[in-house]
Amino acid sequence: MGGLTYIDFLAKFGVGGAHPGGIPLTKNMLTGENITKNTAILDAGCGTGQTTAYLSQQYNANVYGLELNPIMLEKAKTRFETLQLPIQLFQGSIEDIPFEDQTFDIILSESVLAFVNKPTALREFYRVLKSGGRLIANEMTINTKLSPLEEAEIKKFYGLDSLLLEEDWKRILETTGFQNIELQSQPQTMSQGNPAQEFNFSKNFEPELFDILNQHGNIVIKYHDILSYRTIFCTKL
Ligand SMILES: C[S@@+](CC[C@H](N)C(=O)[O-])C[C@H]1O[C@@H](n2cnc3c(N)ncnc32)[C@H](O)[C@@H]1O
Repeated sequence: MGGLTYIDFLAKFGVGGAHPGGIPLTKNMLTGENITKNTAILDAGCGTGQTTAYLSQQYNANVYGLELNPIMLEKAKTRFETLQLPIQLFQGSIEDIPFEDQTFDIILSESVLAFVNKPTALREFYRVLKSGGRLIANEMTINTKLSPLEEAEIKKFYGLDSLLLEEDWKRILETTGFQNIELQSQPQTMSQGNPAQEFNFSKNFEPELFDILNQHGNIVIKYHDILSYRTIFCTKL
């Protein structure tokens, strides 16, 4: 792969809605939340900003995007400018969030925690949420334990430090201090893809990125009954 990662593939192909279930699931996840124009929402690891733009358009809320990858950031910036949306976009890591304590009412993070040090990022989410604030996430989760070789294959491909079962997510959310923790599985599998995926290709990209796309397809098919995801809802009381 010449050092190219799955995230490089997503960034150069400009994959919007780069999470299982895509924007239809995002909309669904938000329906039970109390969001007004005064709500401060962080889209943590916003990628090209499909969800971030939706949050601004749908709720007219105070929307912030945080993203580490410069190509993703550029694509998100262009999207927000084109749509003339008042979204504040920041470069930074969810492991060291460049905001004061107690800033946000809601943090939405779709398929980002899986790629980082999870306890560190969850502590940061907790810190920057207001009391009563909500964390809503959509994260890779394995349905059953894998053999060490299988686990190593998935971790290596996605660049993960760990692969969590549902009970592992619950435990680290609890340890961080979150309450009212709810994890839900969804009918759509990872191998069914995302019904509303967009692409915004970079002008130049390495042909090897097609290999990453193929390998991704092979992994989700090979592990279709184990490699899954959960929607996660919890509160900082
Ligand atoms: C699978 S994509 C999901 C993007 C977006 N949330 C979406 O659903 O389309 C993962 C994103 O997390 C970003 N990311 C990875 N590590 C990060 C970190 N430490 N801080 C912020 N963003 C990060 C990647 O650059 C990428 O945009």
